Amino acid sequence: MSSLTTEILGTSDADLSRAADLLKAGQLVSFPTETVYGLGADARNGTAVASVYAAKGRPSFNPLIAHVHSVAAAQQLVQWNDLAERLAAAFWPGPLTLVLPLREDHGVSGLVTAGLQTLAVRVPAHPTALRLLRLVDGPVAAPSANPSGRISPTTAAHVLAGLNGRIAAVVDDGPCGVGVESTIVGLSGPDPMLLRPGGLAAEDIEATLGTSLTDRDAADPLSAPGQLLSHYAPNARVRLNATKAGEGELLLGFGSMDCDLNLSAIGDLAEAAANLFEHLHRLDAIGQPIAVAPIPEHGLGSAINDRLRRAAAPRDDSSAH
Ligand code: TXA
Ligand code: MG
Repeated sequence: MSSLTTEILGTSDADLSRAADLLKAGQLVSFPTETVYGLGADARNGTAVASVYAAKGRPSFNPLIAHVHSVAAAQQLVQWNDLAERLAAAFWPGPLTLVLPLREDHGVSGLVTAGLQTLAVRVPAHPTALRLLRLVDGPVAAPSANPSGRISPTTAAHVLAGLNGRIAAVVDDGPCGVGVESTIVGLSGPDPMLLRPGGLAAEDIEATLGTSLTDRDAADPLSAPGQLLSHYAPNARVRLNATKAGEGELLLGFGSMDCDLNLSAIGDLAEAAANLFEHLHRLDAIGQPIAVAPIPEHGLGSAINDRLRRAAAPRDDSSAH
């Protein structure tokens, strides 16, 4: 694609108006959310959405999340239901994405849904994201603002490292607080389904619903399109559940231990999630294989381990991008 000068915008009213105008004109603008930086495009503008896939080099069957500023705005896109009402009341704005059947008059480009009859929607909690979404006042499709298959960005510098010259602007508002992507819950089938673990613990969702979430059937690629195995891949080889570094390896630690970088020396999973991509970026930049300490498989640990398993998945698999 042609090379642009990527504008670096702040959070003044003038800068956010500029960002909103660029989005409304079909340009790509990266903006912070509480989870990771998103790469935004007007979800109703097919050309704009296509340029998201192009900028990211993303496989076209990978559907995108529509970001909106309110429940009312979400209800204009999808067929709302009782479970959506309860989860939105409890967790929106926040790191939760709901997948629901599309309304007939949704107006969203088919490239956003990758042709599915459902749409992923979310109201992010980040104040700057909400201000921007109110200015745009329409759905903004936004995958994480990284080239496909690479580590998700939690700072504007990460965004520029991957996409400088490929997008119109980035709104820089410092590091993201949560640090892993939103939890995705499918509400279009008979039972609520956990499609992707993320920044909101599945246990909290289950407590609100009073029922357990069905696990995505890993054997059925159609149940969660885009969940490619090596989606979160640093350049370096990644080895999991390491208690110490092998020859030539860098150790990414968790809890009290000797290591090159620690996700959380006190063993706090939220702190570890917030550090995950930043630490992977920093170790990856050194250019040696990365060994990662075991992370407990509960709460945010599930999301962290999900990302780490993708980072460690074999790269020569033909389904990987
Ligand atoms: O925290 C987040 O969710 C970040 C920020 C920017 O909001 N966004 C994000 O988007 O992680 P992305 O595109 O990297 O991941 C979206 C995931 C895809 O992997 C896809 O599988 C799933 O959402 N998805 C989107 N629409 C879907 C649908 N209709 N049915 C099932 N899964 C869907
Ligand atoms: Mg992503």
